[in-house]
Amino acid sequence: MAYKSTLIILATVLGVEANSCFFTGAVYEHTRYYSKNDSARHIIETNLDSYRRAAETASSKGADIVVFPEYGLFPPLQRDKVKKFLETIPDPKKFRVNPCEEREAYSGTIILRTLSCMAKDNSIVVVASMGDLQKCKGDPDCPEDGDFHFSTSIAFDRDGTILMKYHKEYLFYEFGMDLARAQQNSTFETDFGTFATFQGFDIDFGRMSEVGRWPTVDAVLYSVLFLDQAPQMMSVQFWESWALANNKTLLAANTQIVGHLAVGSGIFHGEEGALSYTFNPDGISKLIVARVPKCDFESVAPYASITAITDNDIWEWKGDGHDVPEVCSRTLLNDSIEIMREYRCMEENMTDYTFLKLTEPKGRVDACNNGVCCFVDYETDGLAEDYYLGVFSGIHNHFGRYNWFEEDCVVARCDPLGDRICATFPLKSKTVFQHLHLKANFTSKVVFPSVTESGMRLVQRSEWHHHSHGNLLSEIHFDNKSGRKLLVAGLKGRSYDKDPPYKR
Ligand SMILES: *[C@@H]1O[C@H](CO)[C@@H](O)[C@H](O)[C@H]1NC(C)=O
Ligand SMILES: *[C@@H]1O[C@H](CO)[C@@H](O)[C@H](O)[C@H]1NC(C)=O
Ligand SMILES: *[C@@H]1O[C@H](CO)[C@@H](O)[C@H](O)[C@H]1NC(C)=O
Ligand SMILES: *[C@@H]1O[C@H](CO)[C@@H](O)[C@H](O)[C@H]1NC(C)=O
Ligand SMILES: *[C@@H]1O[C@H](CO)[C@@H](O)[C@H](O)[C@H]1NC(C)=O
Ligand SMILES: *[C@@H]1O[C@H](CO)[C@@H](O)[C@H](O)[C@H]1NC(C)=O
Ligand SMILES: *[C@@H]1O[C@H](CO)[C@@H](O)[C@H](O)[C@H]1NC(C)=O
Repeated sequence: MAYKSTLIILATVLGVEANSCFFTGAVYEHTRYYSKNDSARHIIETNLDSYRRAAETASSKGADIVVFPEYGLFPPLQRDKVKKFLETIPDPKKFRVNPCEEREAYSGTIILRTLSCMAKDNSIVVVASMGDLQKCKGDPDCPEDGDFHFSTSIAFDRDGTILMKYHKEYLFYEFGMDLARAQQNSTFETDFGTFATFQGFDIDFGRMSEVGRWPTVDAVLYSVLFLDQAPQMMSVQFWESWALANNKTLLAANTQIVGHLAVGSGIFHGEEGALSYTFNPDGISKLIVARVPKCDFESVAPYASITAITDNDIWEWKGDGHDVPEVCSRTLLNDSIEIMREYRCMEENMTDYTFLKLTEPKGRVDACNNGVCCFVDYETDGLAEDYYLGVFSGIHNHFGRYNWFEEDCVVARCDPLGDRICATFPLKSKTVFQHLHLKANFTSKVVFPSVTESGMRLVQRSEWHHHSHGNLLSEIHFDNKSGRKLLVAGLKGRSYDKDPPYKR
């Protein structure tokens, strides 16, 4: 009893004091509705109805902000087809605009009006992704059809006012869209902190890390339609590593279309890693909510939850990860037929990696590639599957189109295919590791560390730590005496200044 009342008093004290020391964030992983036969209006309204349920649920859980994913309202389409999904977004730097209050002026722009009202009705900051159509006749760069199409992140204040719009600076294919005209400052202020937004492919380039490291920015809000790539670029794995590499909070909302390689969302808090996340390819939309500490305030309980949301039901989600299959490789399984149900992932391009197999239950292995050396010291109960050490340094081609410089040092469970010894990456494993120390002499300043285990779960941060020293040494130490079935332990270095110029 005494214990209980102490807790209550403590909670009261903390509650008062904590006002400025945390905010509650929410991200919505949305299973987008789309049918070629339906009108643009019907598709947008159907998806917005789902967003509305998510915003109401987020608000009922005390969230200050909800982030919606990229391409959650309509898919990436060709220029002529995508046009009818776009709306002209006024410049919030020039005018104060509140589409919910100015109903008549915004009656034709259903996305702007609905998102604005969603923010106002729930007194919650809303961040979403949509398309901004800007007439441009006369501009020498204007496309032939007379409009710019920008893939855009937009933020609404609690009262429905537009706070900020950001045009995506790195398009991923997306030939129906145009690149931002110039680099932008995507930060904005709210009554609970300062935020920056980014979208999709932006995460693979330097600007997002640069802005993420600005001390004034409390968190980066990230809307994405992400393609999972094993072994080091699986959604939640890569986002946790982004939060660790940049020591910053990341709220990542993904569209879930599992047959198109997209699943996984979450809230990641600097060195603490995931506060809450989902990775469960099942065709069900989910809202992730977590309390995000803002200052040096250790006692903030996580208050994290996952809520499943369908057209006619809302329930607390338990057992996340249950539907993760052992094999997801599109190379092995071909394309899925039921895209909302049959999960597929792809592999990173590893053609120029140097691989070395782990052959003993415990030991040390090292390998070098282009002047980068990677070393692993490990201990297992016995290797039940094939594990390889992989190392790479250089300019690499991604998705058959984009080139950038990276350094990789990774231990992963992988299977052979044809003449490639390490080609596909199952998502489950039986091999139990008690210890793993991975070390590489990278030249990169930004290094993404990750440790995942069987079922594509993130290994708790209490069981591993990482360092990236100024003196060209990056490392990961994992230890758990009772052992874990590790899938991947990886370090990925990026030197953005060595990238060739980005071409869309
Ligand atoms: C869409 O329309 C086409 C042609 O009108 C029809 O053949 C097809 O079955 C329709 N698809 C759906 C999902 O309704
Ligand atoms: C970005 O904008 C914010 C205000 O929204 C401002 O405080 C900050 O100084 C700007 N940063 C840069 C580098 O321009
Ligand atoms: C990470 O950020 C927190 C607060 O923003 C700071 O206290 C801590 O020292 C930083 N850690 C590192 C390794 O820079
Ligand atoms: C994938 O497609 C190829 C060619 O259509 C077919 O030969 C193969 O059996 C398919 N594999 C699976 C696992 O369905
Ligand atoms: C990494 O270590 C290897 C072996 O000691 C060395 O040959 C190589 O030059 C080092 N690379 C860098 C970038 O320091
Ligand atoms: C993989 O990367 C290499 C080296 O950049 C490139 O030559 C090759 O075309 C890429 N393969 C694929 C399938 O993209
Ligand atoms: C070690 O891993 C087990 C699961 O295999 C887990 O239950 C336990 O909490 C971990 N131990 C530590 C010290 O983190």
